[in-house]
Amino acid sequence: MEQEDRQPISLLGICGSPRPKGNSRYLLQIALQAAADAGGDRLRTELYTIAGKEFKPCTSCYTCGSREGECFLEDDFRELRDKWAAADAIIYSVPVYHLGIPGQLKCFIDRLGNSLWSYYGGVVAKSLRVFGVITQGAHLFAGQEHTTTALINHALVMGGIPVTGDPWEAYIGAAGWTACGDRKDSLRQLVEAGDRDAQVTVRAATSLGRRVAQMALLVRAGGQVLRAELEADGGYTIFLDRLPSTAEKVRQVEVERRMAEDRLPMDPRGG
Ligand SMILES: Cc1cc2nc3c(=O)[nH]c(=O)nc-3n(C[C@H](O)[C@H](O)[C@H](O)COP(=O)(O)O)c2cc1C
Repeated sequence: MEQEDRQPISLLGICGSPRPKGNSRYLLQIALQAAADAGGDRLRTELYTIAGKEFKPCTSCYTCGSREGECFLEDDFRELRDKWAAADAIIYSVPVYHLGIPGQLKCFIDRLGNSLWSYYGGVVAKSLRVFGVITQGAHLFAGQEHTTTALINHALVMGGIPVTGDPWEAYIGAAGWTACGDRKDSLRQLVEAGDRDAQVTVRAATSLGRRVAQMALLVRAGGQVLRAELEADGGYTIFLDRLPSTAEKVRQVEVERRMAEDRLPMDPRGG
């Protein structure tokens, strides 16, 4: 129990490109690094890529409803679902496909909603995961905002808290374009060549990563303060299950306070 209590916030980065080392991953790594810098040892990051994974489409059989969320399709769904469910915060970084979410990721998300609804017994509504969204495509005005909005809507319906980056680079998330480049390193090359648009995208991904980390820390701290009230509400079970125990937190703060006092220089008047 004590080890669990000291568990850092877990931030899962999901790269929604079938390319293992493409532009989405490049931006996701930037965001995760910024989050790690902001969160320090209070936050742990993991990058999961859908590249090489299989997510079959939902067949609408509703079997998951009678099997506590377990889907009968055999593929990589459960692996990502379990990571998703354990995360306190999630950053999606996806390429725009036909003005929207790539099909592989959409297949995962379709099944996730129904699976978790049954898995949690209908109380997904207040799970309070923090979300950030990064999108990029080859062209300008070519679906970045639609894709971001679709993922923000997904975050909301899953009881999450979507955040963006800092103004004015990131309005509803970080977004960019490869200036018509179709290479997996197009964005990186543009950044290195000093391209202004690409640099704005990187700044947006950086501030988005930082804000996801900060919001996740705020949500955890708030949950610890309000634990009793939230327990009485009954709908926050999933969130509360991810919280370190309040008693342990109070003990940690007291230990840290005493240690800080011990480090203070002796009062010269006190001898
Ligand atoms: C099937 C497919 C559909 C695409 N549709 C769009 C689109 O609607 N808008 C756009 O700007 N780029 C589109 N693109 C381009 C990709 O979004 C772009 O190449 C992106 O940089 C790829 O990111 P990645 O390297 O992370 O895979 C599409 C690419 C593919 C393969």
